[in-house]
Amino acid sequence: MIIAVDGPAASGKGTIAKALARHYNLPHLDTGLLYRAVAATVRRLELDPTREADAVAACDFDELTLADPVLREEEIGKLASVVSAHPLVRAALLQRQKRFAHQDGGAVLDGRDIGTVIAPDADAKLFIRATPTICARRRHNELISHGASVSFDQVLADIRARDTRDSSRSTAPLVPANDAALLDTSFLSIEASIEKAIALVEARRRKEG
Ligand code: CDP
Ligand code: CDP
Repeated sequence: MIIAVDGPAASGKGTIAKALARHYNLPHLDTGLLYRAVAATVRRLELDPTREADAVAACDFDELTLADPVLREEEIGKLASVVSAHPLVRAALLQRQKRFAHQDGGAVLDGRDIGTVIAPDADAKLFIRATPTICARRRHNELISHGASVSFDQVLADIRARDTRDSSRSTAPLVPANDAALLDTSFLSIEASIEKAIALVEARRRKEG
């Protein structure tokens, strides 16, 4: 079973994807980390994120980068959204994600284009949403709890700009797949979001079976 979980920044998709992976005993891939690793490599090597050739060179990042705590920074999220708009960067990371999705036994992946590009054949597709203010409040709390000093207004502006860039790029934009189930987590607790997500996946499986 392949489960695709997409949505904007801090909507709750990672939390939901991890919980689904636990529930169904499937491996999970946070695909945003791949783009964040490219971004961190661009920054470390002092490359130009707006130049496609520079960003492509950074796709060959050291695997250890995936565990680097700098990946959590909102600045890296922003850079990730710049490098991820280059078609050749997306192409460089495509096969790795497709292989993960289509491994024996299935997988859960979360990102922006899982249901549309990486696994259009997924058995269940969820598109997670929450209002920008609620997403920003969640991300702000997270950043503060990791010791960052950043204002709520800054976080709101950053994730708004990022979601706009991600939704408006021409290659693999952030849009729900036609057959995705929409889940708005704005007024749901983490537990309630997970329960709802499991119920949506179960409904899809019944429909298929
Ligand atoms: O993966 P994504 O950026 O979409 O979001 P996340 O990392 O799953 O969630 C962002 C933050 O919101 C985390 O700190 C979650 O614990 C929190 N969250 C929440 O407060 N309520 C929810 N219903 C879902 C997530
Ligand atoms: O956790 P959060 O939602 O803030 O971001 P993320 O999932 O770590 O993704 C960081 C950036 O990588 C996004 O803003 C996108 O520009 C890009 N990304 C993408 O283009 N496609 C994906 N499948 C995942 C992430």
